[in-house]
Amino acid sequence: MLIKSDIKNRVDIETFVHLFYSKIVTDPLIGIIFTKIFPINMSYNIPIITDFWETILLDYLIYKKNAMKVHFEKNKIFPLQKNILMPGSIYSTQL
Ligand code: HEM
Repeated sequence: MLIKSDIKNRVDIETFVHLFYSKIVTDPLIGIIFTKIFPINMSYNIPIITDFWETILLDYLIYKKNAMKVHFEKNKIFPLQKNILMPGSIYSTQL
């Protein structure tokens, strides 16, 4: 049985982030963003995203970039929109 507990330290965050991104890659709607459009490199991205959450959750100022800017840049390349991956969308034929 999975025992849930509060996040207390960086290792807890990293474990959670890793589990989250392992699952997101199979998500039917947005998984493809992390596998084909901007393939996630777990050993590169997980520590950065862990830095972000450590800054937010544990008040340890280790992430100093602008996460929104990173996403705006990605959104210029591949804009998120409703039904983006539905059959017939302009993107579904390009993937
Ligand atoms: C549908 C929603 C989202 C998508 C498609 C998405 C996509 C991505 C992608 C593709 C990257 C990798 C960027 C790279 O190649 O370096 C990334 C990085 C990241 N994401 Fe997201 N993201 C989403 C939502 C979120 C949310 C809600 C948060 C936090 C509240 C978040 C936090 C981050 C952080 C901290 C990074 C690392 C940025 C950096 O390199 O400094 N993302 N995201």
